[in-house]
Amino acid sequence: MTTDLTTEISLAGEAELGRAARALAKGRLVAFPTETVYGLGADATDADAIARLYQAKGRPAFNPLISHVADLAAAEKIARFDAAALALARAFWPGPLTMVLPKTRDCAVAELATAGLDTIAIRIPSHPVARAILNLFGKPVVAPSANISGHVSPTTAQHVESDLAGRIDLIVDGGPVDVGVESTIVGSFDEPMLLRPGGLPREAIERVLGRALLRPPVDVENDSAQPLAPGMLTSHYAPRTRVRLNATEIAPGEALLAFGPLLKDAERAVAVMNLSLSGDLNEAAANLFGYLRALDARMAQTIAVMPIPNHGLGEAINDRLRRAAA
Ligand code: TXA
Ligand code: MG
Repeated sequence: MTTDLTTEISLAGEAELGRAARALAKGRLVAFPTETVYGLGADATDADAIARLYQAKGRPAFNPLISHVADLAAAEKIARFDAAALALARAFWPGPLTMVLPKTRDCAVAELATAGLDTIAIRIPSHPVARAILNLFGKPVVAPSANISGHVSPTTAQHVESDLAGRIDLIVDGGPVDVGVESTIVGSFDEPMLLRPGGLPREAIERVLGRALLRPPVDVENDSAQPLAPGMLTSHYAPRTRVRLNATEIAPGEALLAFGPLLKDAERAVAVMNLSLSGDLNEAAANLFGYLRALDARMAQTIAVMPIPNHGLGEAINDRLRRAAA
């Protein structure tokens, strides 16, 4: 992989948003904030740009990308919506929901972005910077999380820089993101399925659908070559330090990732970061990836993680922590 690009970082002002859109039009790789995590954007219709995007992330090309669009009209040009998908679009877009839908016949998104599948993952992000870039660019933008494949997703422009400097053209800095975990992915609408828990709680989706979301068949969660949502591979979201879940005490040499009131022996930890002292799951999601990166840098023997309830954003938090511990 060449790492000889000069990666520019700019604050998200009006001129920079225009520059970002023009860079995408030239086939360049542009990182920008969405409400969930920072994305690494490329023109979804440009196979060369997408090939370089896979290369910059070190991502296997059989793992398809999410196409980001500005509005529902743009989404309907590339995917077919049934009644349930439309209901979810109306309820939750723009926002942290991705839907996997059948491609339209004249879908302009490059085959490479969908890994040859006849379905496409789509999302309309709500972050003002992402929306401005999508509106100015006027075409779908593929944007995986802007990290080296397998690393923890970036929630600040500095995280993007530390993973991808020299590999991409531009980083638009819009400050820290709001949600902090990736979008929730739903697919297969005759049998609606939760392909990845994320920034939109399952409960909210089930209320609109009026039915429970199925779990994907067991085999897709394992490391098969053709997973339904390959981001679900267990090795994803990994810090270098070992992660121990559901910790109720601290062993010597461990760092503590806390949630709620601290453990009695917390002062024994080599470092302590609290996802949310008050036990707020939204606050915990926003802090999760940044705190994992920070504790990873402390070179502790293990990161011990206190138990986190599994409702609301807790489902996505526990999912990412299980993968980090795998
Ligand atoms: O919040 C997010 O979704 C962020 C921001 C930047 O939008 N993006 C993101 O992208 O998390 P990425 O590439 O890290 O994760 C996309 C996931 C992967 O697990 C991929 O396998 C799955 O979506 N995916 C994409 N197309 C699919 C398809 N046609 N069928 C099933 N899964 C698909
Ligand atoms: Mg990712």
